[in-house]
Amino acid sequence: MHELIKEWQSIKQIVVIGSLNQDWVVGADHIVRVGETILTQEYHVFPGGKGANQAYAMGKLGGEAAMLGAVGNDDAGKYLLDNLKTVGVDVSGIKVDPQSKTGMAWIVVDKHRDNSIVVIQGANQTVDSPYINANKSMLEQSDVVVLQLEIPIETVVYAAKPAKFLSKCVILDPAPAVGNLPDELFEYVDLIKPNEAELSILTGSDIIGGDYGEKALQLRQKGVKNVIATLGDKGIFAALEDGRSMSIPGLKVDVVDTTAAGDSFLAALAVCLCEGGNIEEAIHFAQRVAAIVVSRSGAQTSIPSREELDAE
Ligand code: RIB
Repeated sequence: MHELIKEWQSIKQIVVIGSLNQDWVVGADHIVRVGETILTQEYHVFPGGKGANQAYAMGKLGGEAAMLGAVGNDDAGKYLLDNLKTVGVDVSGIKVDPQSKTGMAWIVVDKHRDNSIVVIQGANQTVDSPYINANKSMLEQSDVVVLQLEIPIETVVYAAKPAKFLSKCVILDPAPAVGNLPDELFEYVDLIKPNEAELSILTGSDIIGGDYGEKALQLRQKGVKNVIATLGDKGIFAALEDGRSMSIPGLKVDVVDTTAAGDSFLAALAVCLCEGGNIEEAIHFAQRVAAIVVSRSGAQTSIPSREELDAE
């Protein structure tokens, strides 16, 4: 068993630093093309945002999670905070910014169940270094710090650095993918969870797929300790700090909407490791959770409870 997992066996408290969005999910025949207007009847409003989805999933799966981020002083922000509270997520540190609107995501899901997302960042953009400083105690009290890339990248680096210095386990979901992440960030990361496209973007490759081992090695050489890449129906590729690498087949599932699949996978992985599961158990648990999420519509609305999983 490698060091990181051993450390995690006594870990309980997770803090997620990230985005909160109200998702507008629109069903359409196809993703809109340049200059085109599509008519459709179908839309739903769901609680979302990569950070909030992860914190919500952690709470719903029985983890102890707190969240740092920002919403506007509006109905959407209240709706998002209330939803996190229903699963026991500590939202006391989330900023309600009177100058901003709550973040929003426009998600078009086509007839093949593929999606495209536009995020209007709103209050998420105000998650800055003074805010992190003001909430440093929450970082200090936690054992695991989870970050994504829907808040300013400078803030992600700013929060990851002291987290690493304080010997927290730093988990990065590099989504949405950015090609030129500062090299410094990789040095602070204990575990990164890219999907196939993100793995290519992070490693400067034009090819989606290819040699996952080589791509993971590139990230490990930059300082990341563990890489767990989600490859859709091709399963999982993991390269761990103890030198092991493994390919794990995907679960068969009828896909309805892939929104929040990656978020719930990461949350489940963290919760299982925090409970003392080994890496194979954590990946398997995360795959089961993500398989349920993609079989349902929406982000937080699609996340199963621990009771539901236990009853499977
Ligand atoms: O990862 C899914 C999330 O990405 C959605 O909930 C949406 O808010 C976008 O941020």
